[in-house]
Amino acid sequence: MDRIAITGGARLNGEIPISGAKNSAIKLMAASLLTEEPLRLTNMPRLADTRFMGKLLQRLGAEVIESDGDDGPETLLTTREIVSAIAPYDLVRQMRASFNVLGPLLAREGHAKVSLPGGCTIGARPVDLHLQALEALGAQIDLNEGYVYAQAPRGLKGGRIDFPINSVGATEHAMLAAVLARGDTEITNAAREPEMVDLADCLNAMGAKVAGAGTSIIQIQGVARLHGATHAVMPDRIETGTYAVAAAMAGGEVRLTRTRCDFIQALLDKMAEAGVEVTPHNDGLTVKRNGARLKAVEVDTAPYPGFATDLQAQFMALMTLAEGESVIRETIFENRFMHAPELSRLGADITISGGEARVRGVASLNAAQVMATDLRASVSLVIAGLAAEGETVVNRVYHLDRGFERLEEKLSACGAQIRRIKGGGGEDE
Ligand code: EPZ
Repeated sequence: MDRIAITGGARLNGEIPISGAKNSAIKLMAASLLTEEPLRLTNMPRLADTRFMGKLLQRLGAEVIESDGDDGPETLLTTREIVSAIAPYDLVRQMRASFNVLGPLLAREGHAKVSLPGGCTIGARPVDLHLQALEALGAQIDLNEGYVYAQAPRGLKGGRIDFPINSVGATEHAMLAAVLARGDTEITNAAREPEMVDLADCLNAMGAKVAGAGTSIIQIQGVARLHGATHAVMPDRIETGTYAVAAAMAGGEVRLTRTRCDFIQALLDKMAEAGVEVTPHNDGLTVKRNGARLKAVEVDTAPYPGFATDLQAQFMALMTLAEGESVIRETIFENRFMHAPELSRLGADITISGGEARVRGVASLNAAQVMATDLRASVSLVIAGLAAEGETVVNRVYHLDRGFERLEEKLSACGAQIRRIKGGGGEDE
């Protein structure tokens, strides 16, 4: 299995173009099931997760064609007919977001059988809210032997969906199903992440009538059919935030382009509080830190527009070298501090108690072998490695490949000493 080796100490200077958003692209790909016409997605990230979603969609009947367009990578998805409305366990287990094909399959075919995804390293991650949303649209749901059997023989009908807590995936799932339902749907306490707006924009380009995405109330007028469209995937806000933190960790000056800083305002506010210089531009931002030690700050993760849980691990890496004690509270997932013991292997001083981490800044980190547990945890170890003395080796790099496009290339273009060690065997398991 591949590893990533980073020799710490090099400052970062240069430009990093941000790719299309993984977490949006996967749901936009699922939207292609809602029409027999082609959906052309531009600014597509080329990642293990998007490739994986392509394979699942092919199994359901989609034709998936990847190409390089004038404005970067594109994917053309055409599902003339659904050849199978079944998403099996071996596929859904590998990538939870594939569960989101349930709604589109049900909306188009009137039935679907999709495996329950099961838990994952960052938490139990149930799908009860997804199922409640589909039931509110008239679906009959049965659970049997780890599978969801969903039926709506006469089609879905509009309804009221009131979420008890914010859920990104369940809000997206409700939108994906309600666009083809008969009548009107209102989603209250909807997630407000920018990915909701991206999905609604794409669905509307396909002929749907979705209003209010990005606010807590989304209204959808169902339509009889959707058509093909072209849609540009939004910039990846988590990739943007990750490189912003990487630049702050290593020091230097990095311009992040093809992105938007309003998507990560909560992070930028905390970085500014810690002493990082951030300058917004039309097409992104510049992050600068010259020598001075950063100050420890407190962070609570929260649904958008709060501080993203997907940036918590990276920020914790940054705080390991800050002056003072930083308190980081994880409020979205119950087990999302798996990176902390690995950061401690590099010399960080972190104490975990429930959902709270206390990070006492140390003067320096020292390189070590570390193990990645999930996507964002892995990249936090790369960030720590940028500032650690010596060569840090991050094992289980496949997690990184799921969500960061050309990571080594983008960082080394700015001067980072980072390389991939190709490797067979399972020695890092
Ligand atoms: C999305 O996951 C993202 N994944 C996650 O990014 C991200 O961390 C998360 O949103 C929060 O922002 C994708 O978009 C593919 P949720 P999702 O439903 O939709 C609970 C990454 O690293 N909940 O908003 O699964 C849930 O357990 C990944 O890219 C229920 O209780 O997150 C959690 O505590 C990791 N019942 C909270 O809601 C449900 O039916 C928020 O989860 C659904 C969720």
